[in-house]
Amino acid sequence: MCGIVGYIGHRSAQEVLLRGLSKLEYRGYDSAGISVYNEGDLQVQKVLGRLVALEQHIQTPLIGGQGIGHTRWATHGRPSDDNAHPHSDCSGRFVVVHNGIIENYQALREELTSMGHRFQSQTDTEVVAHLVEELYAGDLFTTVIQVIARLEGAFALGIMAKEEPGKLIAVRKASPLVIGLGDGENFIASDIPAILEYTRETYILDDGEMAVITKDGVDLFTFAGVPISKDVFHVTWDAVSAEKGGFDHFMLKEITEQPTAIRDTLTSRISPDGSRITLNEINLTDEVANTIDRIHIVACGTSYHAGLVGKAAIENLTRIPVNVEIASEYRYCEPIVTDKTLVIVISQSGETADTLAAMREAKSRGCARVIAITNVVGSSIAREADDVILTLAGPEISVASTKAYTTQLICLYLLAGHLAQVRHSEGANLIPDIAQALRALPEQAEQVLQTSAMIEKFARTYAAAKEDCFFIGRGLDYAVALEGALKLKEISYIHAEAYAAGELKHGALALIVEGIPVIALVTQDKLYEKTVSNIVEVKARDAYVLALAWEGDAEIHKHADEVITIPRTLPFLAPVLAVIPQQLLAYYASVARGNDVDKPRNLAKSVTVE
Ligand code: AGP
Repeated sequence: MCGIVGYIGHRSAQEVLLRGLSKLEYRGYDSAGISVYNEGDLQVQKVLGRLVALEQHIQTPLIGGQGIGHTRWATHGRPSDDNAHPHSDCSGRFVVVHNGIIENYQALREELTSMGHRFQSQTDTEVVAHLVEELYAGDLFTTVIQVIARLEGAFALGIMAKEEPGKLIAVRKASPLVIGLGDGENFIASDIPAILEYTRETYILDDGEMAVITKDGVDLFTFAGVPISKDVFHVTWDAVSAEKGGFDHFMLKEITEQPTAIRDTLTSRISPDGSRITLNEINLTDEVANTIDRIHIVACGTSYHAGLVGKAAIENLTRIPVNVEIASEYRYCEPIVTDKTLVIVISQSGETADTLAAMREAKSRGCARVIAITNVVGSSIAREADDVILTLAGPEISVASTKAYTTQLICLYLLAGHLAQVRHSEGANLIPDIAQALRALPEQAEQVLQTSAMIEKFARTYAAAKEDCFFIGRGLDYAVALEGALKLKEISYIHAEAYAAGELKHGALALIVEGIPVIALVTQDKLYEKTVSNIVEVKARDAYVLALAWEGDAEIHKHADEVITIPRTLPFLAPVLAVIPQQLLAYYASVARGNDVDKPRNLAKSVTVE
């Protein structure tokens, strides 16, 4: 989504803004702009296109040590120069950058237009600049308090006033915003990587908080103007971990990091003797845990696919019925929630608007507790959930989620085991075996990564040349096939479809023609024969079948054209390994087609709007 960077201090604001925005490019954007204050003037430069276009557009460097910058992912108003941020009021006395959606912007725009204000863009954001202009009576801070009282929706704002140099105002409601603390300089940013080269000391603003920032200090307030204090959040990431580390793309780096990410996510969450799950961050009391009679897992995209695996894990070990819901549907379907419903929200970014809203909907309906599984400390979802299980995947920059998915699965297995333990379910007896198999996964994932060359060849020979591709499986294999199809379609742009293998004959078989690539997952022993019969079915229509099967499976070679094998683990844990060849397939197909692997068209890393 949109990226915000602000600076005030002794450096060139233009340089800090452009460097910071470049670290936010992963969020996806279509235009960019900066404003720098200098000698009584708010200079603004903004264009449609990438940051490189903005740099080319700035003929003469903007002088000044105070500024705000923005990368825009269009929501209201098509991508254009005029719709790029920063936005100004009629007279250029104020400039604003914004991430989120002002939901009542139409009414505000009509009101301000009737008062004589002239708009330059189709954006919701511009109303903020004109509202500041309308309400300004000589003090920006009190004006902004009045302005935000008029706004509905989600907004992270950076604001400057020509008549009040040396001051930035930052506002946070529903869209993330952090403040970087320096020596004689301070920063604002949508995300930590933008300021990491300058400072590791930050304030993470919460909803309903704002800040007045000068080069020498940061004052924090509620939206009512009440002063507040916050702990400084020390960032532990190093800058390199957010870089590509020698890989061509973040996606391949992050696929390759999965053994480490899995290992890190397991750390200290299994007892040393391997007999118990020790999820100490869950404060779900045994009493509440034992009253739970229904679980809702709510998420979007890849995180939703992780939830499908979570359903199998939790139902298998606890026999509690689990519904897995798409967040954008759940938030509007008047979900049936009681004080015996446990809600699990899964979100890599922790900022996905639909998932955040779905969580709030469940809470408003009185669910027993919300547990969030997320990769981002201090994210909105993490802060509003009752309990948080962190995936320790490290920064995931590529739009296509990979290591976040596999570590989400690990967290779901651990949570399933934890629930089985506190409820003394029969499934708890399986925990020592599960724990042992979990601990073997990092090494096994390393082995799967060694199949990379074979997958690259298949990708270049078959997948990349085709416009359609099928993924089939049964049970957990179907859940993982859905993820494989999403990966391929979102970064190679090949139309990929996942089908429950047993469902093919009810329609989709009509699409199976000679040479169409079919990826068949056959890791679920109890369904093996059935899935093989589906492979035979598509082979009879001359499909080209790549099977993902266990090491040592001799039978599958009689049916599939090619076989990628994965080390044997519990069928229950197979998704963690079976997804990796599919991630690699998508990656190499995308590279073969010359796509922008890490920033695929139309997509954003964090979808912070509906
Ligand atoms: C993943 O490859 C996709 N880019 C997308 O589906 C993503 O999983 C979805 O937007 C949810 O994001 P979240 O996990 O940050 O909530």
